[in-house]
Amino acid sequence: MPAITLVGAQWGDEGKGKATDLVGNRVDYVVRYQGGNNAGHTVVIGDQKYALHLLPSGILSPDVVPVIANGVVIDPAVLFEELRGLRERGVSTERLLVSANAHMIMPYHRALDKVTERFLGKGRIGTTGRGIGPTYADKISRTGIRVQDMFDAKILRQKLELALHDKNQVLTKVFNRRGLDVEQVFDEYTGYAEELRPFVADTSLELNRALDAGKTVYLEGSQGTLLDIDHGTYPFVTSSSPTAGGACAGAGLGPTRITKVVGIVKAYTTRVGSGPFPTELHDEWGDWLRQKGGEYGVTTGRNRRCGWFDAPIARYSTRVNGITDFFLTKLDVLSGLERIPVCVGYQANGTRYDEIPMTQTEFHHAVPVYEYLDGWNEDISHARSFEELPKTAQAYVRTLEEMAGAPISAIGVGPGRDQTLELRSLV
Ligand code: GDP
Ligand code: IMO
Ligand code: MG
Repeated sequence: MPAITLVGAQWGDEGKGKATDLVGNRVDYVVRYQGGNNAGHTVVIGDQKYALHLLPSGILSPDVVPVIANGVVIDPAVLFEELRGLRERGVSTERLLVSANAHMIMPYHRALDKVTERFLGKGRIGTTGRGIGPTYADKISRTGIRVQDMFDAKILRQKLELALHDKNQVLTKVFNRRGLDVEQVFDEYTGYAEELRPFVADTSLELNRALDAGKTVYLEGSQGTLLDIDHGTYPFVTSSSPTAGGACAGAGLGPTRITKVVGIVKAYTTRVGSGPFPTELHDEWGDWLRQKGGEYGVTTGRNRRCGWFDAPIARYSTRVNGITDFFLTKLDVLSGLERIPVCVGYQANGTRYDEIPMTQTEFHHAVPVYEYLDGWNEDISHARSFEELPKTAQAYVRTLEEMAGAPISAIGVGPGRDQTLELRSLV
């Protein structure tokens, strides 16, 4: 039965949390397959607002099994804090499953993330400082510590000694920071092990069996396509694969299991951290979008950089993810504009590009070429069907759909659960 992947089609914060929550009562499993607590997914249910970082948004739906799969990196203190916070608000959390193969974020990963950023100065990536990059680097270097390692004291100590032998040299000699004590870290993490144990499972086996039994599995991406380690604006990216292909490796499912790929795309564009962003607005329109859209980071509280919709980016996302359906969010934010600029291509170094240029150097110099679509003044946050939207808003949606190269199956007109126009079922 179907496995559906949800991917951010821009630079993150497209509204993935809301999109996942919307289908919460129609799916059986919601799975995080990459990233860690760098994510910030907002879900609004009635007058309650939840900000989730590490847990799948499906944890808020009582009949869903939330899964943290092998591709995720876990900071245990953050995980327990988030679980505690939800329990205090009456959310049941005992259904959670955590892969034995997921990697652990260790204190030295957080320390290295922060210190390398500081040393990069102007060249910094603008990471969330949560230790994500260094944890994935260790995973690839085969020096990482996995969830299962926490249950074997001998292995854990061995791996920690090996890792700290190396990291302490770097922290003290390269960065002039204090080193970490093996025993202290060992005690801290063995302390977490018992709290983690009830959740740990072979999540790949569980998900494949669930699919065999006809259940629906929803793979919730974090970050976005342009933050993908391979397909994003490298090096200004995150250190995992949010793109649809990453869902298979990150959850232990074969590609033939995925029947649908839903791309979440904002009616304009935002980005947090450094890196190229052709349609970024440095004028009062950028502030207008930020204020109207509430574009402030859920994780770090930073101002999000704001700009107009970029069609080549949406098209690129359709291509690299195989997007079958788009969920266009935040259309309501654009109410009140006479004309809405939409980027249809770029000029860079005297050349016109209809697609994202091949090299980063060209993309850094890309100046957007705009088409101007008619705006609307009406408040559309109460619309509940496509037909209730003003004609010009309908035309904006249809034009974006044509430019993006895949059907827009849902439209967000506000943060609330009910503020969605579902034109075709997302599940
Ligand atoms: P995520 O990281 O992709 O889950 O997105 P974030 O939660 O970081 O940012 C999206 C923000 O937009 C959140 O505050 C949502 O509550 C809000 N949001 C989602 N969809 C809509 C929408 O259609 N309209 C409006 N106005 N806000 C929305
Ligand atoms: P959600 O899931 C937006 C950005 C950071 C930085 C870069 C690398 O809420 O869409 P990292 O800490 O991952 O090494 O930082 O990636 N970034 C995000 N931007 N939304 C996110 O998640 C992000 N997660 C990481 O700002 O530029
Ligand atoms: Mg976010």
